[in-house]
Amino acid sequence: MDVIAANRSATNFIGMGAKPAVVASLDDIRKTYYMGTLSVEVLHGISLDFYGGDYISIMGPSGCGKSTLMNILGCLDQPTSGKYFLGSEDTSQMVDDELSTIRGARLGFIFQSYNLIQQLNVLENIEMPLFYQGYSEAASHAKALALAERVGLGDRVDHKPFELSGGQQQRVAIARALAVDPLIILADEPTGNLDSKSGAEILDLFDELHSQGKTLIMVTHSNELAERTERSIRLRDGLVESDERRRTA
Ligand SMILES: Nc1ncnc2c1ncn2[C@@H]1O[C@H](COP(=O)(O)OP(=O)(O)O)[C@@H](O)[C@H]1O
Ligand SMILES: [Mg+2]
Repeated sequence: MDVIAANRSATNFIGMGAKPAVVASLDDIRKTYYMGTLSVEVLHGISLDFYGGDYISIMGPSGCGKSTLMNILGCLDQPTSGKYFLGSEDTSQMVDDELSTIRGARLGFIFQSYNLIQQLNVLENIEMPLFYQGYSEAASHAKALALAERVGLGDRVDHKPFELSGGQQQRVAIARALAVDPLIILADEPTGNLDSKSGAEILDLFDELHSQGKTLIMVTHSNELAERTERSIRLRDGLVESDERRRTA
């Protein structure tokens, strides 16, 4: 399927009523990495729309550009050319400060390696993004506690990451990602370091978040995980190879 056809197919909402709002939009995104005199273009023009409530898996061979795309979606990196709208804001022209502001306010991140702060306990890790959003101590405390309970860690709030299993650490990361009520939750191989049982528990949690209307974009190597999502995007050599929605009801 060519890129344009792939984009059209994504806008066929099978069995859905009114089309949900676009929460993020990529328009002809290219990314070149420069290393000394060498330059390599790894994204060759990606155009995709993401809708509120989307539950998406991104798949494709190693090195095809999945993480590069996720970093751009997450405002962790800028495209070399093309436009990226997050909500109604054009991020393409933003400087570092503006990018980190929008990142903290609008996005939630879940990484393969959890990326928790080792010196902080569960509650403090979850509170971190709220602190940066200017929440009072009492308000952030209450919100973080509710989130810890929501991910099943209400009885572990004063544990440090090293005292938790991998699956528990990833649940802390999910609670932290939810703290600011982000527009999109981005997860790059979130179950990559977990055994299959803990991985399945994380996916159950994602299913639950999806049913509550959250917007989730997940990179995965697993067909089994991808089949749980409603929309699968396949990248190949820096381009969208396919973009399919499946009926889940
Ligand atoms: N910071 C970087 N500098 C130079 N090359 C990079 C950088 N990040 C990724 N690449 C290269 O870009 C290509 C795509 O990488 P990546 O987006 O990590 O792929 P994936 O996540 O699909 O495995 C790879 O060839 C990788 O080596
Ligand atoms: Mg990757």
